[in-house]
Amino acid sequence: MRPRSMMLFAVFAAAATGSRLGAQAADAKANYDENCRKCHGVRGTPPKTMKEKFPKIATFDAKFLETHSVDSMVKVLTKGKNDDMKSFKEKMSPAELKAVAEYVHELQKAKP
Ligand code: HEC
Repeated sequence: MRPRSMMLFAVFAAAATGSRLGAQAADAKANYDENCRKCHGVRGTPPKTMKEKFPKIATFDAKFLETHSVDSMVKVLTKGKNDDMKSFKEKMSPAELKAVAEYVHELQKAKP
């Protein structure tokens, strides 16, 4: 093996053995903050300006989460619902969409 490919191999090996779950959770937060937060709020409660702009926007509270499973959210995120809530399948992989939906389910639970 040439030194360069040895280095690459080491990087891949480290990535593969690293904490998968931890990395995914961090990515989900980053993806949520980048793609969802401006409309849905830091903790899943949309800011007032967004509620005024989108009267139908969801608040991710316990009642909402009871009726919206992770799978159903992944469907909405994949297909989109309408012009306000667009599809995110171009921006994230199916695994990332699922991780974001799981993150949404944890958001309000983490509230102090
Ligand atoms: C441009 C603002 C905007 C962005 C960005 C946005 N949403 Fe939404 N979202 C909405 C609006 C508005 C609705 C309500 C749509 C309706 O019912 O007409 C909604 C609805 C939803 C719903 C409920 C769908 C249902 O089953 O009724 C979920 C879940 C959701 N958004 C998750 C997300 C996630 C996760 C992201 C980031 C990947 C995101 N949204 C990004 C505006 C946004």
